[in-house]
Amino acid sequence: MSSADALYDVIERRRDVRAEFTGEPVPEDVLLRVLGAAHRAPSVGMSQPWDFVVVRDPALRRTFREHVATERDVFAASLPPERRATFDRIKVEGICESSMGVVVTHSQDRGGPHVLGRHAIADAGLYSTVLAIQNLWLAATAEGLGLGWVSFYREDFLRELLGIPAGVRPIAWLCLGTVSHLETVPDLERHGWRSRRPLDDAIHHDRWRNDA
Ligand SMILES: Cc1cc2nc3c(=O)[nH]c(=O)nc-3n(C[C@H](O)[C@H](O)[C@H](O)COP(=O)(O)O)c2cc1C
Repeated sequence: MSSADALYDVIERRRDVRAEFTGEPVPEDVLLRVLGAAHRAPSVGMSQPWDFVVVRDPALRRTFREHVATERDVFAASLPPERRATFDRIKVEGICESSMGVVVTHSQDRGGPHVLGRHAIADAGLYSTVLAIQNLWLAATAEGLGLGWVSFYREDFLRELLGIPAGVRPIAWLCLGTVSHLETVPDLERHGWRSRRPLDDAIHHDRWRNDA
């Protein structure tokens, strides 16, 4: 397989994982390779605004899972009955079943007051951290691991739980670990919540198309 084919294959196989974690330990060298891939992400002004908090402590994970369950209920209560019935069938996290959590944080102060390329677009810092997450996700897939992004939480709760300093934002709790398999179709599609848009609808030429 050419390196291009290998990359496209990983992109195609990457899935958001909730139910397929087996909880086996991940060898330290594999974890370091995956975090190393995240750490090689591009970043605005080379600010490298990310940090990775690896969470293995079962008690911390249980506490976080309870918080996520509460936030899941908050979202469920906002749904009309038919959407709620669909949502009720969808698992939104594998916090305790995964091998570990990796909380990716964002420090907007990293790089000092003169971050090259961020003067007009403050969010460019955040984009950089999200690219590190995508690298981490693809590397995990290439290593045969699964990863699931959890965003059903309040930032202040997670900051407090892990002792993250004020001003540093927890951007994602990533459930990371060994899996039985990766599904070929996204969970949300399999459960009838939402499906992928055709690529043609997403591509515009020269000017924004309103008919897409
Ligand atoms: C920013 C972000 C937040 C997400 N939060 C959650 C989440 O809280 N729970 C969950 O089950 N999936 C979450 N996902 C995963 C998406 O549901 C998933 O990526 C999407 O349905 C497409 O499926 P796929 O990643 O398997 O292709 C999140 C994804 C992103 C990018």
